[in-house]
Amino acid sequence: MKLFLDSADIEEIKNGAMLGVISGVTTNPSLAAKAGVGGVEAYKLAIQEIASIVDGPISIEVISDDPDDMILEGRDYATWIDNPWVKLPSSAAGFQAMKALSMEGIQINQTLCFSVNQALLGAQAGATAVSPFVGRLDDIGEDGMALVRDIADVFKIQEIKTKVLAASIRGPKHCLDAARAGAHIATMPLNVLKQMAKHPLTDIGIQKFNEDWEKARKG
Ligand code: G3P
Repeated sequence: MKLFLDSADIEEIKNGAMLGVISGVTTNPSLAAKAGVGGVEAYKLAIQEIASIVDGPISIEVISDDPDDMILEGRDYATWIDNPWVKLPSSAAGFQAMKALSMEGIQINQTLCFSVNQALLGAQAGATAVSPFVGRLDDIGEDGMALVRDIADVFKIQEIKTKVLAASIRGPKHCLDAARAGAHIATMPLNVLKQMAKHPLTDIGIQKFNEDWEKARKG
């Protein structure tokens, strides 16, 4: 399972990329706003900077609701960087735009997916990846990870090539469970990535090795 950063914050992305384990970045309008990115030109500059930091697909989300406008936006986004994934919602308008853009060879990240049926529609419309939102389903008392598992199972049975991208990941356990559920990619905030790297026994072990080394060095 590949790991993506879910952020539009340049410093966060630089910080996460330093670990050497990140294969892509996902952004959305809320993350852009949180990072102080306002307007299409600022979004474009931010995306281009992100692409210079991380070598992999960068997801760029459309703002329009109308399918024709989504298509125009998607075509524009596709020229911004070398490896764009245009993020389109799991709605009727989104599927229409997915089909048109995927037919033009543009890579699609189907976002805001909350059911297996939506994932099946996205796959038929040519989505490169589908993003089930784990945390947001958990938030309303449903089992977000069950959706990731179900999509991965159905895609396997149906030999569908669309990748399962576990999104709305809120903690390290979500990430581990997404891997167990068969997700191809998990996208997470920097704090989750950092928590994944942490184990108290690793810290204690490093400290002990250093102390023993110092003792032996001093004789
Ligand atoms: O990639 C989608 C993600 O940004 C949504 O996460 O935590 O806002 O539900 P969250």
